[in-house]
Amino acid sequence: VSIFLIILLVLFLLNALWWWQADTLLRRRHRSWRVRLWPLLLAGGMMTLLAAFFLFRGTENSIWNHIPQPLVAALYIWHLTLLPVWLFLSPAIGWASLLQARRDQKKQRHSGLPSPASWDRRSFFAYSVAAAPMALLLGATTASMPQLRQFRIRHLRIPIPWLPPALDGVTIAHISDVHVGPFTSGEILQRIVNSSNELDPDLVLLTGDLINDNLNDLPEAIATVQALKARHGVFMCEGNHDLIPGPHEFERRTKAAGIHLLVNEQRTLSIRNEQIQILGLRWGSGLAGISPYAEDAISSSLRELLTLRNSAAFPILLAHHPHALDPAADAGLPLVLAGHTHGGQLMINPDFGFGPALFRYWTGLYRRKNTTLAVSNGVGNWFPLRTSAPAEILHLTLRRADP
Ligand SMILES: [Fe+2]
Repeated sequence: VSIFLIILLVLFLLNALWWWQADTLLRRRHRSWRVRLWPLLLAGGMMTLLAAFFLFRGTENSIWNHIPQPLVAALYIWHLTLLPVWLFLSPAIGWASLLQARRDQKKQRHSGLPSPASWDRRSFFAYSVAAAPMALLLGATTASMPQLRQFRIRHLRIPIPWLPPALDGVTIAHISDVHVGPFTSGEILQRIVNSSNELDPDLVLLTGDLINDNLNDLPEAIATVQALKARHGVFMCEGNHDLIPGPHEFERRTKAAGIHLLVNEQRTLSIRNEQIQILGLRWGSGLAGISPYAEDAISSSLRELLTLRNSAAFPILLAHHPHALDPAADAGLPLVLAGHTHGGQLMINPDFGFGPALFRYWTGLYRRKNTTLAVSNGVGNWFPLRTSAPAEILHLTLRRADP
């Protein structure tokens, strides 16, 4: 509770500081109270939503059932993108406005007249600080709404050296990061199920973050997985978001519902008389979702999991974190499926944005030694806005390749 309280207080303070800077600039340009009311309304509204978010967090009476989705989206976009950008720029804004105020005073002393309240460069500056964030928030929130109801099917062929000939052409619907919760629920889940089922895959493999952060969403998430159809089975591993409500409850309830959740466990099945071993990696961090994910946690989880390796079967590793590619390549596993990155979520173009800033592998196919990694952008959302990183279901086809 205490860490969330600290975050809440910091966010309150940032909202208050933004309002104070915007209001100071507007006041200095002698703007009327009607103009100055807008930043106050925005900061006050955001603080009210924040308070509601923290008060009802994790309770059965989830606040998101009572607050319109655009407001929830605005809350996320404001606090996770626009306010941090303002914070970064605010020292420069403060310094520039101080210089302006000094210049105004000098001019006033010189001419004996009060500085003009007309529309000039300085008013433009004041409006930029006060109005630009509001305009951006409105634009981004408006853009995010249709996005939350869209995803694509990306078809990828995976060439694998030494693929058993019988497995040539095996198809997988790879679904990741559904994040059932405030931004992904109801009708979109039904469409995800329908789209996957229409692919008529041999396997459906889910790579973690089934729920966003609340066990109240788990029944809907479980029903979604149960509705997925595949000739040879539906299997999944856990993600960091699945563990936010606690380390054991997600696993206990999901397994109790009969879902094949593999937490450092394996299932061996037979497709066209050839054995396939599905290996599900444990997320492995006690502070999942809060602490930065340690690379050695992946390696140690994988070492433990590989004691279950059946060398007669073709292995597929399900790992939430894509950096599992490196230890998997060292271990000689041919295929790894991962998610977690959301394709970078906010990308300026396919090569520049949060994806490459935070991860070595963030979207599509990667190859190391004889190991291929498929990273899904995820089909759901914990953050409402995506740029150049569309939500997706991967449709993978295994192909035998020349070594
Ligand atoms: Fe995720």
